[in-house]
Amino acid sequence: MKKIRLALSCGLLAVALQTSALQADPLYSLRGNVDVDELSEMIPNRRSMAVDGGIEVTFEEQPPMIPHAIDKTRITLNENSCLSCHGKAYSKTENAVEPPKSHYRTREGDKTKQISTGRYFCTQCHVPQAYTEALVNNDFKN
Ligand code: HEC
Ligand code: HEC
Repeated sequence: MKKIRLALSCGLLAVALQTSALQADPLYSLRGNVDVDELSEMIPNRRSMAVDGGIEVTFEEQPPMIPHAIDKTRITLNENSCLSCHGKAYSKTENAVEPPKSHYRTREGDKTKQISTGRYFCTQCHVPQAYTEALVNNDFKN
């Protein structure tokens, strides 16, 4: 009996949550309310943040955010221009932070000479920041 009552109240809770989700203000991405297969209006370019000394991380193992603009960098099959500053050969002359040792290991933990292929697409994990309003306000504390 208890189980049935629990299931019933879970069901009611789900219905309640669904209705409140329907009533909340709709949330649109920067693209606006446009279907995925439709073209949206061009999003205005936001000024990238440039932070001397880097942006403080807010939780353990967070990939640090990119403290500079990346409009001119390209990551393709043949070229990764992040590495023209952050690569081993250049990080000293460019005064750029060298990627940590974790980036020179395969998934199995074997050392690699060049940046591991699993880390090649830097912006999968590292993201730049722009001066813009937050899409969703939150009160996350560091
Ligand atoms: C023109 C050279 C240059 C290019 C190209 C470049 N960076 Fe940087 N990057 C720097 C320098 C210099 C710093 C150090 C800035 C500082 O700390 O003041 C930096 C800092 C960073 C940091 C912060 C590290 C930390 O510990 O806080 C990350 C992450 C980063 N870059 C990622 C990238 C990625 C990803 C790309 C490609 C999309 C890229 N960078 C392209 C020069 C460059
Ligand atoms: C799979 C996620 C991932 C990818 C892809 C990745 N990184 Fe990282 N990166 C991290 C994490 C997590 C850290 C911090 C923890 C650590 O040391 O491994 C980090 C740290 C860094 C740092 C900070 C080093 C320091 O001492 O402060 C730099 C610079 C960096 N990465 C550059 C790059 C570049 C350049 C690329 C692309 C060639 C890249 N990363 C690709 C996850 C990633």
